Amino acid sequence: MSLLKWAMIKQLWRLLKAEVALHKHNKVNRQGVVSADAQQYHIIENVLPQHVYDGLLDAVSGLHAQAIRENSHWRKGMAMGGHEFNSSKAKPWLGYFSSDEFIQKLRAATGIETLAPVPAVDTNRLSLLFYDAPEGSDETGDGTDWHMDGSIYLGDRWAGILTLVEDTLDATSKLELRPFGEVTLIPKQQLPNSLVLFQGDHVLHRVRPLVRDERRVVISLLFSDWPIRTRNPWLRRYQSKVNRAFYGNPKA
Ligand SMILES: [Fe+2]
Repeated sequence: MSLLKWAMIKQLWRLLKAEVALHKHNKVNRQGVVSADAQQYHIIENVLPQHVYDGLLDAVSGLHAQAIRENSHWRKGMAMGGHEFNSSKAKPWLGYFSSDEFIQKLRAATGIETLAPVPAVDTNRLSLLFYDAPEGSDETGDGTDWHMDGSIYLGDRWAGILTLVEDTLDATSKLELRPFGEVTLIPKQQLPNSLVLFQGDHVLHRVRPLVRDERRVVISLLFSDWPIRTRNPWLRRYQSKVNRAFYGNPKA
C-alpha cells in the first residue's frame, strides 16, 4: 500500500473514532457524565488591546436595537450571531480575534498548542450577547439555568466569554461555573476586557438573572484544538435549532 493511501486510511479512522466519541459524549453529558480532565478554566485579563476594547464598546452600544430578543425555552435575552456581528459596525475591531497575537494568548493560557477559533461559517465563532431586564419585567437571566452545552466539534470544544460590560449590583460576575461540582464565583474586578475560557460541554455553567437597571454585554467565542465539525446530521440539525433560537438565523 502506498504511503499516501495509508495516511488517508489513518485519517479516516481518526475521524470515525472522533465521530463515535462525540456522539457518545453528547448523549451522556446531559446526564452529567463529563470528563474530569476537562474541568479546568482560565481567565485572561486585559485580553484585548485598549483601543480594540474601546472601539468595540463604542460599536456595540449602537447594536442593541438590532439584536434578536428571544424568550423561548432555549434562552431569554438578546443576541447577534456571528454573521450579523461581522457585518455590523463592530467589524473593524473583529479582525483582532483572528490575529496571531490573540491566538498566541489563548495557547499560552491553556497550554494547548493547536487551540484555534472554529471556522467562520459557524455563527458561534464570535457572537454578541446582551443581558438586561426587558421593559415591564423586573429580571432576566439567559433562561438556561445550570446547563452544559452540546458540541459539534470532533476536537475539544472551548467556550470563551469576553466581558465588555458588567454593570451590575453584584460583587461577582453573573456568569458562574461549576467545575467538579463546586460553584466558582468570578470576581468583578478586572472583569471587563477579560476572557473566561472553559469547556462548556464539560463544565456546568449559568448566568444569574439580572435585575432592573443592571446591564451586561459579552462577546461569546468558540475555539477547538481540532476544529472539525461533525458530519452527523442529527447533531448538525440540533445545532441549527439552537442557532435559530439564539440569533434568529439557523446558519451554522
Ligand atoms: Fe452555555
